[in-house]
Order: sequence, then C-alpha cells, then structure tokens
Amino acid sequence: MTNQAIIDKGKEHIMATYARLPVALVKGKGSYVVDADGKQYLDFVAGIATCSLGHCHEELVKTVQEQSQKLWHVSNLYWIEPQVELASKLTRLSGLDKVFFCNSGAEANEGAIKLARKYFYRQNKPERNRIIVFKNSFHGRTMGALTATGQAKYHEGFAPLLEGFLYAEYNNIMSVESLIDDTVAGIMVEPIQGEGGIRPADLNFLRSLRQICDREGILLILDEVQTGVGRTGKFFAFEHYGVKPDILTLAKGLGGGFPIGAMLATEKAASGFAPGDHASTFGGNPLACAVGGKVVDIVAKEEFLREVEAKGEILREALMQIGDSRIKEIRGKGLILGVEWDREVKGLIDICRQKGLLLIGAGPNVVRLVPPLTVNRTEINQAVNIFKEALKIWQE
Ligand SMILES: Cc1ncc(COP(=O)(O)O)c(C=O)c1O
Repeated sequence: MTNQAIIDKGKEHIMATYARLPVALVKGKGSYVVDADGKQYLDFVAGIATCSLGHCHEELVKTVQEQSQKLWHVSNLYWIEPQVELASKLTRLSGLDKVFFCNSGAEANEGAIKLARKYFYRQNKPERNRIIVFKNSFHGRTMGALTATGQAKYHEGFAPLLEGFLYAEYNNIMSVESLIDDTVAGIMVEPIQGEGGIRPADLNFLRSLRQICDREGILLILDEVQTGVGRTGKFFAFEHYGVKPDILTLAKGLGGGFPIGAMLATEKAASGFAPGDHASTFGGNPLACAVGGKVVDIVAKEEFLREVEAKGEILREALMQIGDSRIKEIRGKGLILGVEWDREVKGLIDICRQKGLLLIGAGPNVVRLVPPLTVNRTEINQAVNIFKEALKIWQE
C-alpha cells in the first residue's frame, strides 16, 4: 500500500484521537525509518523516547524470536522466568526492592497512585490519600494518571476527574510546603518534565522533595516513564540528583519498542499491596520481559551510558552553535533535549520532516530531540544539518 492508501483507509477506520502526520512508516533499521512510498527519515522521535536501541536492533530481534518459540503468555497465577529476571535487574540497578509489571506509562502511574493510597490505608491512615502533583506535568491518559497530569487542556471534557490530587508549582518548594497536611500520601513528580517542555527539576528542588517526604513520612513517587532506562545518560534520571524515590515508574524505553511498563517500590512501600490488590493480565508477559531484560543488559553497561552522555553533549553543543535569535533556551540531559523558541514550532517540525528528519514538539514552542540511544555521531551531524537547512526557510 502507498502512504496515501494507508492514510485513507486509516481515516475510515481508526478513531481520531491523534493529530496524525501524512506519513505511514512501514520499516526501520537503527536510527532510520522508511515510509510506504520508500522515503527514508532520520528518526529523532524514536516512538517518543521509546525505541531506545533504534529500530530492529539485532539482539532484540533475536530475543523476540527465541522467546516467541518458547512461551508467549501465561497468567500471573504462575511464576514467569523472564519477569523474575527483569525484576531482579531493575531492583539491583535502582536500589528499590519490588516490581509490579504492566504495559504502559499510564498504567505504571495508576499502580503507583493505588499503592500510595493502600500503603496508608494499611497503616490505619485512610485519610492520607491525596497526592501532590505538579502544574505542567504529564503522567498519562487513564483517569488517575490524567487527573495527576497538571495541564488543563488534557482535562477538558473529562469531568468528573478523580478526587485527591493537589497541584503545586514545579521547581517551587514553597508551593509544595503550602499544600502539605496530614491528608497527603505522597508527591509524584517527573525529574524532567517531558511533555511539559523538557524542563529539568532543579537539584535543590528534587532534594527538598525527598526531605519533605522523609519529614512527613510520605512517599516520593518519581515518574521516569520518559527519562528512565538510560535516556539522560544515567540509567535512572534520579541518579543525577542523588535522590532515591519510594516508588518509581518506568515504561517507554524499557521495552525498546515492545510494550511494557513497571512500577518499582521499596520493600516498605510495596508492603501496601497484598494479593488481590492490583493486577494486569498482560503485565510481566514473558515476551515483553525477555525483550526488556535484553534492553536493560545493553543500556546498563557503563560504556553505553557514557556514550549517551557524550552524544548528548555533542548534540547540545551543535544546537547551541546554531545561534538563531529565535531560540530562547536549550534544556535537558543526555539524549532528551528541548529547544524552546519564541514562537510555535509546528511549521519547523513539518519542514524538517519534508527534508527527512523526524522531530516532535513538547508543548507548542519546544522542539524535543529524543533519538535512539544508539544514534551515532554521523547521524547527529546529519540531523543538525537538516535542522539548520530547515531553519533557513522557516519564516513563521
Ligand atoms: C513522564 C510520562 N509519564 C507517563 C506517560 C504516559 O505513558 P503511556 O503513554 O505509555 O501511557 C508519558 C508519556 O508520554 C510520560 O512522558
């Protein structure tokens, strides 16, 4: 089928929840994808920070093939070897103790919200059921994660939202302090606000959140759905801050493109859940966990993470060199970078795509760059060159 044929059929049958671009991608290898008409693109979207090892990484293909001949799915009524292996890797790397597996970021966050509530319920403090979240955050589209998301545009039309969320200003510790009382169960925060415009938490802000949680005996929940699994140049973004969460959520890059999510917790926090409290049919599926295990093996290597950091610096430096007066700020860590402009960037992203570079926004004025972590220096140069070419003709 051609691009147009796929698009036409899609418009007929697919629910219109996405503002889709006029491209149908049909194959990919490494940092490149190809559309149905044969046009090749350098992919700096990577499934939105998800294809951490690029497309069709040989070791992941092999892992899927091997696991697909052994076992696809069994219920969590039984123990599942690839799930146990992945959990043991994630707990070792995070210093947390227990893992619940699911299928997406939103689902991981739902699990975190439920765990925080049940944790205090079991301590005979059911009144501690509110979570402090942040304006401009993004935690997903299910009702709990949506309510936790501090952006009105995503809430519109979905009332009534859930009770029990308090919205503070990001990077403003006083606004958090002013919401603390004995109904608060925890604070849920992204170490770098992703959808909200690639805004990193200040060092002192995240450390102060940890201190508040310790002082109040409440839970710090870090949403690392976008920043986790090597994206920032450390396996977890919280390592940049020296702040350990009580609950941590992951998804996106963990499966390298295979759907998987995870919610990790300390032994103490995890004690909030007993059998029957939470579940997911596909969560911890053998295929997903086999792939996740391989992704973790590759990404957790010190040389791999050092390279992510180095390539992130090269990309950031090249972006700084552009020196366009319309640029307001360049933010981010490792290979999650945002370039904020003094105007909307949709037109710029469109020109880049026409020239063979896929990019995505993070809010109306920010171009987000989240290439595969395996991107090489030549590809970074190529992307920056296309970006510069696009800027010459971007007039808006
Ligand atoms: C920080 C963060 N949390 C949660 C989510 C939701 O993840 P999913 O789309 O897998 O439900 C996202 C998705 O962009 C995200 O960036």
